[in-house]
Amino acid sequence: MKKLLLTLVGAGALLGAVYASASPEDDRVATVNYYKHKFPDVKFKDYIYGSLALDADAKAQYDSIMEFPPFETVVEQGKKMWETPFKNGKKYADCFANGGKGAAAMYPMFDDKKGEVVIFDEALNACRVANGEQPYDVGDAKTMGVLLSYARTLSDGYKVNTKINGAAAVAAYEDGKKTFYSRAGQLNFSCANCHQVDAGVRLRSELLSPHLGHTTHWPVFRGGDNLVTLQNRYVGCHKTVRHVPDKPGSVRYKNLEYFESYISNGLEMHASVFRK
Ligand code: HEC
Repeated sequence: MKKLLLTLVGAGALLGAVYASASPEDDRVATVNYYKHKFPDVKFKDYIYGSLALDADAKAQYDSIMEFPPFETVVEQGKKMWETPFKNGKKYADCFANGGKGAAAMYPMFDDKKGEVVIFDEALNACRVANGEQPYDVGDAKTMGVLLSYARTLSDGYKVNTKINGAAAVAAYEDGKKTFYSRAGQLNFSCANCHQVDAGVRLRSELLSPHLGHTTHWPVFRGGDNLVTLQNRYVGCHKTVRHVPDKPGSVRYKNLEYFESYISNGLEMHASVFRK
């Protein structure tokens, strides 16, 4: 307990330093350096594997599962959704440059007209609406999740390229950062407590992932078949600390994704992966 408290006190000082008014780019560089010191053996590019980057046995198991992913049929279903024309004959590919290749790597982006962060899920919905279809519920794994499981693979190998331009975009990033570093819930934990300070620590049977790379690989298939989107993961983590979660796609969760995504700039995307 004493050790835990000391860790948290130390973390308070450190997070205070990270939190002091720094630009998003200062934050990103500080985060990369923080992990370089914390995990000197982990290569930058391997942060896309989350906690697997810190556990060679679990990574080996992941590699063998990923040779024949048990969720391949779901991604195939997503491909079919992506390729099936809307009633007006247009397709998702018509809404994006390069037929959607690399599109997910540009999101989240800040939409100046809306004055809000737009996540890729919403860009897919905007495409549906522009073509006379109903939008999906952002939190619905069976529709939006399945569509994302293919649409995001079109950005595999592209680097996360989140841009923050202008005061309103910076304010959205800062709001996401605030959510990340603020304690919440009955257990009074911040995201940073688990995913920065205690990254690499085991919580019950789970190894806590570093937040660097948190946005690169969605959706995940937990246990091989349970499709979880990033927005739904935020809901899950808030429930873990007994905090009343937002709806997926809330402004707070979009800003949180914007923050985590900017921090992960330069890492390669690889969607639809196995997680424990
Ligand atoms: C009490 C500890 C705890 C807190 C606080 C917490 N999480 Fe988590 N989170 C977990 C555990 C356990 C997992 C599953 C193991 C892992 O991959 O880290 C997880 C997984 C994740 C993942 C998926 C990582 C991957 O590669 O699959 C993301 C993203 C995430 N959390 C984000 C957040 C955010 C953002 C917050 C704050 C709103 C947060 N978490 C708060 C415990 C926590």
